[in-house]
Amino acid sequence: MSRHEISMIGSGNVAYHLGRAFRQAGMDVVAVYSRTPAHAAALAEELDSRVLAAPEEIPDRGIVLIAATDDAIASIAGRLELKEALLLHSSGSVPMHVLARGAVHYGVLYPLQSFSKKRPVNMREVPLLLEACGPEELATLKSLAAALSDDLREVNSADRHKYHLAAVMANNFVNHLLAMAEGYLKKEGLDFDVLYPLIRETVDKAIALGPEAAQTGPARRGDEKSMERHLGMISDPLLETLYRLLSEHIRAHYR
Ligand SMILES: NC(=O)c1ccc[n+]([C@@H]2O[C@H](COP(=O)([O-])OP(=O)(O)OC[C@H]3O[C@@H](n4cnc5c(N)ncnc54)[C@H](OP(=O)(O)O)[C@@H]3O)[C@@H](O)[C@H]2O)c1
Repeated sequence: MSRHEISMIGSGNVAYHLGRAFRQAGMDVVAVYSRTPAHAAALAEELDSRVLAAPEEIPDRGIVLIAATDDAIASIAGRLELKEALLLHSSGSVPMHVLARGAVHYGVLYPLQSFSKKRPVNMREVPLLLEACGPEELATLKSLAAALSDDLREVNSADRHKYHLAAVMANNFVNHLLAMAEGYLKKEGLDFDVLYPLIRETVDKAIALGPEAAQTGPARRGDEKSMERHLGMISDPLLETLYRLLSEHIRAHYR
């Protein structure tokens, strides 16, 4: 097993899950810095680590992972002067080169999964998309990532952004539509759990048949009457727009 000494910047969903995965893989998380000291303290306690008061205190050795809001990554990197440590971020959409302002050795470890602190994740099944500034850095990154997951993929920044866009469609948009369905049924005094088998089958079938072949429903069939009836039942104008757009997109796709 590879042993790396880890320092973490950020204490949100990804920091929590990656931090726990590092620990489970037998590595030491030696330091945590985050914008809100209480959040850093909570994560440090979870990971048996110590809290730092500023990014400038991060030790220049091992791995330094910035798992912070995308917009903050470049400015955090700008506060570092790492000569020895491998500096990583975990974002799907931030270019790798922004890390060059804070480190000689840098790369990206993007875990392609949706993380929430309350929800356990089997990190061994999470695809880790890897990018590094040179071959030695890539070798170190691969040995770190192999200790966490069985699914490692080397990708450049452009392809990582494309995977991130697809992930937004596959996870964020689908989940938002589920939240719309839940909100609608709640408002009508009806049960969301009636849909659970359908929701599970939607994902299972999309993987088994491919999503294009799996599509059913009024828009796929061109059933105008059902769609008009649905539109008459929706009171939220934004949801009505969403219904029209998605139905039109499905119709155009299968025409
Ligand atoms: N959540 C996901 O499903 C997911 C999946 C893959 C990749 N990612 C990527 O992983 C990164 C972290 O995402 P997340 O979901 O963990 O975000 P999050 O839960 O919203 O947490 C963001 C963290 O960034 C910290 N932060 C913000 N500005 C900071 C600054 N100037 N200095 C230090 N820390 C700062 C916040 O600190 P405080 O709480 O201390 O204020 C917070 O702990 C992002 O790049 C995101 O794109 C997320």
